[in-house]
Amino acid sequence: MDKLFCRTQKVREMEFIPVNEPLLNGNEKKYLNECIDTGWISSEGPFVKRLEEGMAAYVGRKYASAVCNGTAALDLAVEALGLQPGDEVVMPAFTIISCVLCLVRRGIKPVLVDADANTWNMDVNQIESKITPKTRAIMVVHIYGLPVDMDAVMQIAENHGLMVIEDAAEAHGLAYRGKKCGSFGDISIMSFYPNKHVTTGEGGMVLTDDAGLAERCDSFKNLCHKQGYRFVHEELGFNYRMSNIQAAVGVAQLEKIEEHLARKREIGHFYQQAFRENTRFQKPLEATEYANNIYWVFGLVMRPEDKKSAREIMAELADQGIGCRPFFYPMHLQPALQKLGLFAGEHYPVAEWLYDKGFYIPSGLALTDEQMEYIAKKVNELGEK
Ligand SMILES: Cc1ncc(COP(=O)(O)O)c(C=O)c1O
Repeated sequence: MDKLFCRTQKVREMEFIPVNEPLLNGNEKKYLNECIDTGWISSEGPFVKRLEEGMAAYVGRKYASAVCNGTAALDLAVEALGLQPGDEVVMPAFTIISCVLCLVRRGIKPVLVDADANTWNMDVNQIESKITPKTRAIMVVHIYGLPVDMDAVMQIAENHGLMVIEDAAEAHGLAYRGKKCGSFGDISIMSFYPNKHVTTGEGGMVLTDDAGLAERCDSFKNLCHKQGYRFVHEELGFNYRMSNIQAAVGVAQLEKIEEHLARKREIGHFYQQAFRENTRFQKPLEATEYANNIYWVFGLVMRPEDKKSAREIMAELADQGIGCRPFFYPMHLQPALQKLGLFAGEHYPVAEWLYDKGFYIPSGLALTDEQMEYIAKKVNELGEK
């Protein structure tokens, strides 16, 4: 984890406020000591099962499989679903590259839809026009604290006989019409990176209600040892296991999830108030008709005609000791994907605007009220374009 990202440090005589600092003030130390005292440090220790059962129960899934990170979780999900080379998956242009890696490495074609300008999530109205006879699945990604409009997605999937992969990496505790994210579609994934509401340092999870898929995930993450014949392998697996040490932190974090959600919402509401009269920036929606924002991060987006780019604004805020992060760089612009011949000539104007003009300000769980006041003041002092 890079230091700048996680720890408060002195920069040019002032305290630098990192974009995220996790809060580890529950039973983390106690459970970690248990790992050391008992010698259970590998994936076979008891905290792994506890975390899997705890998160599955929390979101309302039957099965969960803890893995070493969210990117690996996506890999497992696609592997378990049995998607084949030449298949197509409809997914958002505005997301992290992990969502595409799990496809292109298997010769599966990602087919992009643009983002919605208000929620920053995939525009569900564009999905149907992207479906072809080769489409096998829709991958939804809940972005920055609000969910994708899942009723619309599930209806399209049903109409066209498609599978749904749900990326709930950033959506711990987020509910869509009262149903928890992480429980939609055929298979869901989460990340437990330190900027998430529940962290394990590095970590992730696959969740499903399908016993067969769960079994495949458990097998694939553990090298596909043949049952009863360890070290005999009939399929090509991965080692994506989560250690008991990581899970120990995760169990302690999960105990605090409601507290974490409440604090993140408090931070979100504070910024909303502080920027109420600031017309330079578009703020996250507080709610939609189907969800209340959990403010995974607090994003700000300038109008397209703003003279400055997000990069310039982030540099100005960094000079004031405030760590920010850019929004996602859209998938169709990624050099690594263009080199594969993907997305030639494609444009997704909302995703491009979000990257050019969007960034997020510190909103981690360890942020103090004093830091929030300072950040809000400095953002407001940026004035009009
Ligand atoms: C939407 C989304 N999906 C997947 C991931 C990948 O998770 P990880 O960083 O744990 O590999 C992230 C990372 O934060 C993410 O934001």
